[in-house]
Amino acid sequence: MLLLKILLASTVVGSAVATTCDNLTTTDYNNLTVALVRAPPPGFPLPLLNRNYTGLNFDLNATVTDAEAFIEEAAQNGANLIVFPELWFPGYPVGNNPKWIVDHVEEYIDNSMTVPGPHWSRLLAAAKTNNIYLALAFSERTAESIYMAQAIISNYGEVLLHRQKVRPSGGERDIWSDGTMEGLRVIDTPYGRWGILECWEHFRPTEVFPLLAQAEHIHIAAAPYTPDAKDPNALSWETLEVNAGAVRTYAVNAGAVTIWAGVGYSAVYGADGIETAEMLASVPFTTPMLYNSINTTSFNRSKTYNVNGEQSWGVLKQIEDAWPYYIPKVIGTFVLKKQNLISDLLQYNITA
Ligand SMILES: *[C@@H]1O[C@H](CO)[C@@H](O)[C@H](O)[C@H]1NC(C)=O
Ligand SMILES: *[C@@H]1O[C@H](CO)[C@@H](O)[C@H](O)[C@H]1NC(C)=O
Ligand SMILES: *[C@@H]1O[C@H](CO)[C@@H](O)[C@H](O)[C@H]1NC(C)=O
Ligand SMILES: *[C@@H]1O[C@H](CO)[C@@H](O)[C@H](O)[C@H]1NC(C)=O
Ligand SMILES: *[C@@H]1O[C@H](CO)[C@@H](O)[C@H](O)[C@H]1NC(C)=O
Ligand SMILES: *[C@@H]1O[C@H](CO)[C@@H](O)[C@H](O)[C@H]1NC(C)=O
Repeated sequence: MLLLKILLASTVVGSAVATTCDNLTTTDYNNLTVALVRAPPPGFPLPLLNRNYTGLNFDLNATVTDAEAFIEEAAQNGANLIVFPELWFPGYPVGNNPKWIVDHVEEYIDNSMTVPGPHWSRLLAAAKTNNIYLALAFSERTAESIYMAQAIISNYGEVLLHRQKVRPSGGERDIWSDGTMEGLRVIDTPYGRWGILECWEHFRPTEVFPLLAQAEHIHIAAAPYTPDAKDPNALSWETLEVNAGAVRTYAVNAGAVTIWAGVGYSAVYGADGIETAEMLASVPFTTPMLYNSINTTSFNRSKTYNVNGEQSWGVLKQIEDAWPYYIPKVIGTFVLKKQNLISDLLQYNITA
């Protein structure tokens, strides 16, 4: 069995359809079935957009237990990839509520995941046991800080990609520290080239341009939570309208099938930006996942970039060359890496 797995791992990477070994044909790499988690983690304030956190607590261990159940359920329903919403582990403070943060920051840090660590190990094991890829999004704790992290785990439980959000958005940047650019990598899988971003990164040239340049086939987008259209309780930046605008634009620019998981609303957009599947936030969470099967037959496996494309070095140079003469060419404070120390967060020295 071990030998077979090694054989599988070494034979299939980078090839569209496996035909050389008698049991490889059991996996159809031309059919990627995805499961998008839309149920909230334990302790998430409900109904959606209810900002009352009284008596609610995020719990990483309970969240990982729920994740294990969803991973198993998704695999049993034929999914090859399961995608979790942004900061699903252990949960996104809805509205990034400052009151909640001040009251719960220590508990939140305690419930952020370490890599490696016991909860991380449970998730890798669940991927392997259930033979399914994972796209994770979690609050990651290091010795000094917490980060908004994402990871892609293979069906063998290997870490294919581990990244931290380059520049958390808005008030997030007062809590979670900035990540690095190295994580903006597209990975090769037997189902095609995958890239991953979270939430408002889809608006940002810093994150979008390098990823688009790498010619993804499948783009994975993680949102924290998304209500249905025209929800009167949603702030502008939380609305489906604004966020779908960014994600659909991304799909068109990438020419990539784009899958979008958020607590509440989840969707799949074709490479042309047209929606192929969606589940509304108003659907009860007793339906925890949206399933969709993607036909990967037409993916051009040899295309990894396009020097003649819109997201190319030539275009980057053109933007630099055309920089308006009256705007100083200086590197402002915005791009400086911001780090929030846990020791400061614990004293509520949140530099708003
Ligand atoms: C191929 O794999 C399937 C599923 O793991 C197994 O049930 C089957 O017996 C295998 N077939 C051969 C010929 O090894
Ligand atoms: C918030 O929730 C708590 C616990 O469920 C409840 O006692 C309280 O009345 C709620 N506050 C508001 C403003 O709804
Ligand atoms: C963590 O979850 C596991 C699985 O549900 C459970 O066995 C264990 O007791 C939990 N640990 C803590 C500290 O709650
Ligand atoms: C793709 O896989 C899913 C899950 O196993 C299955 O339900 C679906 O029928 C498959 N589609 C095709 C076209 O084979
Ligand atoms: C998958 O796409 C290919 C190429 O576009 C097409 O020929 C084939 O019929 C599609 N398969 C299914 C099951 O729709
Ligand atoms: C696939 O991509 C390669 C590399 O960019 C290109 O040379 C080739 O023409 C493409 N094939 C198709 C069918 O578009």
